[in-house]
Amino acid sequence: MGHGIGEMLAMTGHHVVLVDINDELLQKAKEKIKWSLDKFVEKKRIRREDADAALARVNTTTSYEEACKDIDMALEAVPENIELKKKIFAKLDSVSPSHALFASNTSTLSITEMGEATKRPDKVAGMHFFNPPQLMTLVEIIKGAGTSQETINTLTELAKKLGKTPVIVRKDVRGFIVNRILGVVFNEAFWAFKRGEATKEAIDSSVKYTGGFPMGWFELADFVGLDIAYEVGRILYEAYGERFKPCSEIIDPLIKEKRFGQKTGVGFYDWTKGRPRIPFDLLDEYDVERSWAVAVNEAAWIVQDDAANPEDIDTGMKLGTFWPSGPCEYADRTGLDVILNKLKELHAKYNMEMYKPCPLLEDYISKGWTGKKTGRGFYK
Ligand SMILES: NC(=O)c1ccc[n+]([C@@H]2O[C@H](COP(=O)([O-])OP(=O)(O)OC[C@H]3O[C@@H](n4cnc5c(N)ncnc54)[C@H](O)[C@@H]3O)[C@@H](O)[C@H]2O)c1
Repeated sequence: MGHGIGEMLAMTGHHVVLVDINDELLQKAKEKIKWSLDKFVEKKRIRREDADAALARVNTTTSYEEACKDIDMALEAVPENIELKKKIFAKLDSVSPSHALFASNTSTLSITEMGEATKRPDKVAGMHFFNPPQLMTLVEIIKGAGTSQETINTLTELAKKLGKTPVIVRKDVRGFIVNRILGVVFNEAFWAFKRGEATKEAIDSSVKYTGGFPMGWFELADFVGLDIAYEVGRILYEAYGERFKPCSEIIDPLIKEKRFGQKTGVGFYDWTKGRPRIPFDLLDEYDVERSWAVAVNEAAWIVQDDAANPEDIDTGMKLGTFWPSGPCEYADRTGLDVILNKLKELHAKYNMEMYKPCPLLEDYISKGWTGKKTGRGFYK
């Protein structure tokens, strides 16, 4: 992720210094930037001279002191480990000018804790890009407990300058928006599979061809990496409890065998001969409304927590994962009462917290805010 983010910054005129633990990795990062810039030139997205100028703006070093001596901003993208990240933030704080902002590309770890590892928590925020950052347009901007509004405003402006669409996560909640909603949708599918209600092929067929999602949930989990999906799932469970109860019987054996999905050649599917073929004729075997119901429910929890507004939740899911609709607008079109009934039906059948309706949904419905048909739901 680091080289992709560095490339975009360089393409928009910023001077970039990449830092890694050895020169070989830095060399590789620079080669990847060059390869990607060449692709942009080949596709006539940028001019050759602009690509060359961008590359010339990227320097590398293994020394934090050298990299940070006159920076305005540092963007951290080291592996997803809070102790490592805290160490990096303390180091950045000790070697950077006092005005410099720090952002983390973490997928879900605590921005607040990273801020507290510095003497400038007001200048520390999350800036979560999506992979590959050169092509994906979404950025989640996350406010830690100590982050100032000024920092959020500056990073929002920076994201726009990079040609991205920023969404604001107003509270440092685990999973932010996109991974939190994906997490519950994955869990629903994994549990349905485990209960023997549908095969993974049938679930993915229904999700893709009936639901209009770009990938089935098992296919997407493989694509993201099951090790990452597992770790995010663990963090969500720790943060929100039973609502995110992981389906260990399904995922743990794959993790043990290091079958992480596309990157290891096999996960739920075999990727050794390319993308798995999801059969078309099973498209009615899983009720996609179940995916929508838990997604809408989690969106309601996010709104109730005041962590993000419906517009940003919908934008996040559409740009971060190419969903055909955001969950809030979907609920408004379908009817919040219809979604609530689906959740109640599932909760009565399976007695799992995942299906327990968020109080906000019941509250909206009691006020008559059932969506488009009454003029108000998540939106007016
Ligand atoms: N890969 C994704 O799809 C994705 C998407 C969004 C966010 N993220 C987040 O971005 C971060 C990085 O993920 P990644 O997939 O690029 O990981 P990666 O393992 O590919 O890259 C991490 C890099 O950090 C370097 N590193 C390790 N210790 C370091 C140190 N002390 N100082 C400087 N560099 C150090 C490593 O050598 C490596 O080159 C994580 O927080 C991850 O959650 C990843």
